[in-house]
Amino acid sequence: PPSLTILGLESSCDDTAAAIVRIGDDGTAQVLSSVVAGQTDLHAAFGGVVPEIAARAHAEKLDICVEQSLIEADLALSDVDMIAVTAGPGLIGGVVSGVMCAKGLSAATGKPLYGINHLAGHALTPRLTDQVPYPYLMLLVSGGHCQFLLVLGPDEFTRLGGTIDDAPGEAFDKVARLIALPQPGGPAIEAATRKGDPNRFAFPRPLLDRDNCDMSFSGLKTAVLRARDAIVAKKDGLTRQDQADLAAGFQAAVVDVLASKTRRAFAQYPDDAPRTLCVAGGVAANQAIRSVLETVSKDFRAQFVAPPLALCTDNAAMIAYAAAEQRALRGPDDLTLSARPRWPL
Ligand code: KG4
Ligand code: ZN
Repeated sequence: PPSLTILGLESSCDDTAAAIVRIGDDGTAQVLSSVVAGQTDLHAAFGGVVPEIAARAHAEKLDICVEQSLIEADLALSDVDMIAVTAGPGLIGGVVSGVMCAKGLSAATGKPLYGINHLAGHALTPRLTDQVPYPYLMLLVSGGHCQFLLVLGPDEFTRLGGTIDDAPGEAFDKVARLIALPQPGGPAIEAATRKGDPNRFAFPRPLLDRDNCDMSFSGLKTAVLRARDAIVAKKDGLTRQDQADLAAGFQAAVVDVLASKTRRAFAQYPDDAPRTLCVAGGVAANQAIRSVLETVSKDFRAQFVAPPLALCTDNAAMIAYAAAEQRALRGPDDLTLSARPRWPL
């Protein structure tokens, strides 16, 4: 097959992104550019992503990101063969901005348009970066997502379970706030754990006894809150050591839950297929989490694949790549493509 150049757009949360991916005539994928404009400073004062502010920022920045992605790839819009866009799930104002932008580009150039599920983008990333063969197990852990998927094909996913409340990244961020560490909470907590004693506090490991891949992190967060309050009731504030011990106890609980549920997920792996465990999402940056997933993979004689962090977190290259794979299964969308706030895989 001739080579294929795809422009991807992503705007479903708080990153505006555009990327160019090329599939060579030998089928290998190459990321020619991947531009990500974050909005962290816009939302910082509000303690979370404000959907209306996010949508406006996406609408303002999408065209600039597209232009930048073309410049970095040294291409013109006319060199692009198809246009891919996240059509959900996500904050609807942002998704609408991306879909409208992509429709405009498609209508103006006559290039085919593909609406892509954001979660499918994350789930297919290990194929973009490491040519992982189907089927494989995917643990998606970020600020907004937490689920185990069995990835069987470009549009064939079995959801094995996921969080019934907070995502782990959200828990890291909230716990950091509770124990007076800076945002984003993940890296701050991970750094604090280095001098901490994970056994000083006995935090819960929710749903461990349940024989499925469901997880819960909000009770863990409440347990940290209680432990903090108990300390603060006795003296004025938290010492560095208290922060480190709380952080270490919390992270150890998250690590145990993810390890145990990964074991349960492996139990559902097809018997005769070679085994691979992949991760995606910002929480995959955590070294303790990575290393426990590596250990569990070894126990199940599975390969462990963690794509480079820039492609683990929200980006548009994964959306462009997912469109290239799904093109083998279906035709393009037309201008009736709609943005979907909810869109389970
Ligand atoms: O994938 P991502 O960039 O976007 C969202 O889905 O929001 O993930 C961001 C999340 C944040 O909650 C952040 O605290 C968490 O990933 N994170 C980490 C680490 N680095 C980032 N969590 C644990 N340990 C880390 N080292
Ligand atoms: Zn995401």
